[in-house]
Amino acid sequence: MSHHQITEARRRLHRSELAVPGSRPELFEKAAASQADYVFLDLEDAVAPDEKAAARANVIEALGDIDWRESNKTISVRINGLDTHYMYRDLIDVVERAGAHVDTILVPKVGAPGDIYTVDALLTQLEQAMGLSDRIGVEALVETALGMANVEAVAASSPRLEALHFGVADYAASCRARTITIGGLNPDYPGDQWHSALSRMLVACRANGLRAIDGPFGDFGDPDGFIAGARRAAALGYEGKWAIHPAQIELANEVFTPPESEVDQARRVLEALEEAAAAGRGAAQLDGRMIDAASARMALNVVETAEAIANRES
Ligand code: COA
Ligand code: MG
Repeated sequence: MSHHQITEARRRLHRSELAVPGSRPELFEKAAASQADYVFLDLEDAVAPDEKAAARANVIEALGDIDWRESNKTISVRINGLDTHYMYRDLIDVVERAGAHVDTILVPKVGAPGDIYTVDALLTQLEQAMGLSDRIGVEALVETALGMANVEAVAASSPRLEALHFGVADYAASCRARTITIGGLNPDYPGDQWHSALSRMLVACRANGLRAIDGPFGDFGDPDGFIAGARRAAALGYEGKWAIHPAQIELANEVFTPPESEVDQARRVLEALEEAAAAGRGAAQLDGRMIDAASARMALNVVETAEAIANRES
């Protein structure tokens, strides 16, 4: 390991994150009762400009009225972007009036570390003024060319940061990629046209102890397309994916839950290496394959994820 130690963000189970427009309060109870690990109440792009103020009021009321954390859920609010005049009031009103009930603030269209600095500074003042003892986390959507160009600096910008999310739709728009669908593959491209962006963001996250979360897949009638995208993200190291419709929650939970066979195999790796260590060896063989300390680190990731899921379910 490098002498440079990575401080890990607070861990949260984050397999599925349900998006819920703040302007549709009739969905809130359903979202709270869903199997999503995470819910974000949206004040940004799922809310029309004329509905912004009403959505903010709905969200503040629902944060107080519904016990979102009852089933170990994480509750987040997506505020409007720093380029809008809604943003300051979103942050101030939500935290002043319901800050004790919010786990994280999701900041859209982050372009530079200063965007996170601004939110961090305001949150710090708000927490002090309101006497909030639980630090509110910050999550950032990387969904513009500027955000991706600065993703390493953004990921390192604040100890409040917990996760970065890849927002494929705005990213496509910002890059002028040839698509009008939210997520999924363009057959003109030989492979996955989002791969390099997903991979770059993933590395920026892990180098700074953050979770990497994959964003939306718009065609909620295409479970196979959703699963394929989620599996590609999981293969890179993503911990979860958005659900923009309840039909996608179970799909995400399943993809980001290591199957029992994988967990069993990970435990076998750890046992085999313990036995090897007792016999004075660092490397060993298991089923005809070499395993060593790196195998143990991979196996531990799987076992820890399985344990976090078991904790949530108990
Ligand atoms: N959260 C909780 N419940 C939801 C939901 C959500 N995001 N979306 C739909 N539902 C509920 C519906 O109320 C309905 O419930 P019912 O069976 O009790 O009537 C059920 O799930 C099926 O919904 P359906 O009729 O298929 O969808 P819809 O036409 O009501 O809404 C969308 C479809 C896409 C508009 C809606 O899912 C939505 O707003 N998703 C989130 C969009 C968003 O936040 N975008 C920003 C991030 S990309
Ligand atoms: Mg967006």
